[in-house]
Amino acid sequence: MCALGKAGARSLNAAARAVIPCLWRGKYFSSGKDPVENNPVTPMLRHLVYKIKSTGPITVAEYMKEVLTNPAKGYYVHRDMLGEKGDFITSPEISQIFGELLGIWFVSEWMANGKSAAFQLVELGPGRGTLAEDVLRVFSQLGSVLKNCEISMHLVEVSQKLSEIQALTLTEEKVPLERSAGSPVYMKGVTKSGIPISWYRHLQDVPKGYSFYLAHEFFDVLPIHKFQKTPQGWREVLIDIDPQSSDKLRFVLAPCATPAEAFIQRDEARDHVEVCPDAGVIIQELSQRISLMGGAALIADYGHDGTKTDTFRGFCGHKLHDVLIAPGTADLTADVDFSYLRRAVQGRAASLGPVTQQMFLKNMGIDVRLKVLLDKSTEPSLKQQLLQGYDMLMNPKKMGERFNFFALLPHQRLCGRSQQISAHQSKPSPSPVAGFSELAWR
Ligand SMILES: C[S@@+](CC[C@H](N)C(=O)[O-])C[C@H]1O[C@@H](n2cnc3c(N)ncnc32)[C@H](O)[C@@H]1O
Repeated sequence: MCALGKAGARSLNAAARAVIPCLWRGKYFSSGKDPVENNPVTPMLRHLVYKIKSTGPITVAEYMKEVLTNPAKGYYVHRDMLGEKGDFITSPEISQIFGELLGIWFVSEWMANGKSAAFQLVELGPGRGTLAEDVLRVFSQLGSVLKNCEISMHLVEVSQKLSEIQALTLTEEKVPLERSAGSPVYMKGVTKSGIPISWYRHLQDVPKGYSFYLAHEFFDVLPIHKFQKTPQGWREVLIDIDPQSSDKLRFVLAPCATPAEAFIQRDEARDHVEVCPDAGVIIQELSQRISLMGGAALIADYGHDGTKTDTFRGFCGHKLHDVLIAPGTADLTADVDFSYLRRAVQGRAASLGPVTQQMFLKNMGIDVRLKVLLDKSTEPSLKQQLLQGYDMLMNPKKMGERFNFFALLPHQRLCGRSQQISAHQSKPSPSPVAGFSELAWR
């Protein structure tokens, strides 16, 4: 914290300056969705209607995947949806302190794990590259701590548009980028601070090695299946063409059990559940990599611990948007079920959390960092932005309690202090992990 303490405020981008009028996606309205008056027939709607006419109703997971990441027309593929002119705002865009504290978390884990000679920083769904930029700035400012450690940066991103913005943010294209559209590594370059950086579409293509993984507001955009309990048992929610209008979609229930039903817990007490098998696959891959190669994963998102029911929603222009209207023009998201992520680890790694964003950032020293930045700021408007950003991130009624932090660590990390434990103690006490209270160990 001391080296970082000398650093001042980053110049805030337009999105951050516009923090107050913007909507953050963790905001969840269980009722009273804005009615959308017009239903333009988007190219995505035409594509989906054609698909449903050919093969029948589709699952919500297939719908989300098509709408968000279809390579030709997907919402995420060709637009910048973040910030004032976009559809929503995220924590890294609101305050530099967010990314700085996450950067310190990685350095602290690197130190606790024995200061490896090299590590990869891997971010899933990096948005505009703002979070990565703040984390890398911390690494540069803590250069004396990290000296002799070889760092490389790896971004997993499906969006062509956002990957170009990330490249500009992180490299300023001081060294020309190498592009290779057909290759698993579709872009390569060097960051402003001289770190090699590569872009991939899939986590599986990132080289296996000692790595720190970061996923902020990534898991909530992965496709979910939805199920409704009926007197006949669980039935999957599907999307069909509305019989009243051939260019409108509607939800229907599958007439019989579907294969995805296998993902529902036998003792499930809720009457409506959302399951995200893609999240399970990614968690398994991360846990396996961490257990074999070392490192850690930090996942931050809005979500619940296996308690919520219908959380599927859309956002467009900082407003809630009907998920079936004008597909391809609005973001689609669902709360992350952290209990499902924890089960997906299957004991391969140790998991921590979820703990609230308020608790995590408090434990990481947000108050001290805010004070340093306030003391350094001479402009009243900058001071005000810092205070507003802090309130947005920490206030329990805003992002403080809606967002959660969850971590994966190698089991050895949990037993890191076992050598210091005397023979009569039956259970090693866990090493403290920055940001998480000891209660969060699972
Ligand atoms: C909600 S944005 C969050 C951006 C950023 N992490 C932030 O907090 O500002 C989701 C990000 O994940 C990317 N994304 C969505 N689906 C993806 C997928 N299946 N694989 C890789 N990236 C994906 C989007 O393009 C975008 O960068």
